[in-house]
Amino acid sequence: MTEGVQTPPATQFTPRVFSGIQPSGGLTLGNYLGAIKRFVDMQDQGIQTIYCMVDLHAITVWQDPAALKRQTRELAAGYIAAGLDPARSILFNQSQVSAHAELGWVFNCVARMGWMQRMTQWKDKAGKNAQNASLGLFAYPALMAADILLYHATHVPVGEDQKQHVELTRDIAAKFNHDFKVDFFPLPEPVIEGAATRVMSLRDGSKKMSKSDPSDASRINMTDDADAIAQKIRKAKTDPDALPSEAKGLDERPEARNLVNIYAALSEQTVDAVLADVGGKQFSEFKPMLADLAVAKLSPISSEMARLMQAPDEIDAILRSGADQARAIAQPIMDRTLDIVGMVR
Ligand code: AMP
Ligand code: TRP
Repeated sequence: MTEGVQTPPATQFTPRVFSGIQPSGGLTLGNYLGAIKRFVDMQDQGIQTIYCMVDLHAITVWQDPAALKRQTRELAAGYIAAGLDPARSILFNQSQVSAHAELGWVFNCVARMGWMQRMTQWKDKAGKNAQNASLGLFAYPALMAADILLYHATHVPVGEDQKQHVELTRDIAAKFNHDFKVDFFPLPEPVIEGAATRVMSLRDGSKKMSKSDPSDASRINMTDDADAIAQKIRKAKTDPDALPSEAKGLDERPEARNLVNIYAALSEQTVDAVLADVGGKQFSEFKPMLADLAVAKLSPISSEMARLMQAPDEIDAILRSGADQARAIAQPIMDRTLDIVGMVR
């Protein structure tokens, strides 16, 4: 947060949850445990929940148009199959609510170049070839701030890798409030909880599980069948030691820690509770237990996703209705923002 700026804590605003995922490829177990499963859990906490497929973010890198449409529907199918309920959460794709782009522009004029340059995701994605990256990729975090603040959202469930972007959102909100002498935007909190906020590659415990990893064996895809899931877990990299009986025994054992974290998140237990059960077992015994659990939890989701993908009209209708509900919240906030900034209305 920008120091010395007096802005209201998020608690002065009605609690509201917003999060988003890019429809830029298949969903992984990392997306499920780090994001979607937690989105589902937040539906039951008496707070309004808004979940977005951020297609405007996806096009910051090249997307084949037909593939983008398919991936957006597949992500929606993943959300719904995992338990997001259009009757309890607002589900929509970002580009149907044009105020995201509009507020994103205002925030491009609030955020500073230096803030953007510090973002590790920008540095990773633009790499050495920054001159050739899209301007949109650089401005990406300002659009993300717009996604969140357009709804005056106070809580943002994300994986560990997105924490810096939510902190930047707080900086943008604070600077806007300060520059225009208003208490208009809340400072949202990242919500990063649970055993699996950073699911690692099955091949390398120092790398995040990612849909962009060239090795398919490094990840579990939400569309993998039972055989593929079991095989990937069987081949997952581990060390030769037995499992410890306490979490601190996983220090310096990143691959072992990752598999235990996944087990804990899927079975909704703490790591210590899992280790109290499986401590002393060899991986030859633990891996089949993990594979069975993963198949039991994931296969109902993947079969429902497959069913929904056969019914794109059903998905599109849900997204249109979600967009209508999102617009109803966003429009007054957008109108007020433009008024504050000094646009004749
Ligand atoms: P992405 O697929 O990178 O757009 O990420 C969508 C959401 O999933 C974000 O909240 C990420 O933080 C989360 N996520 C992606 N990969 C992982 C991972 N390996 N572990 C935990 N969370 C993840
Ligand atoms: N940047 C996020 C990611 O890559 C996706 C995202 C866009 C998002 N807008 C958001 C997440 C708003 C939370 C809230 O995962």
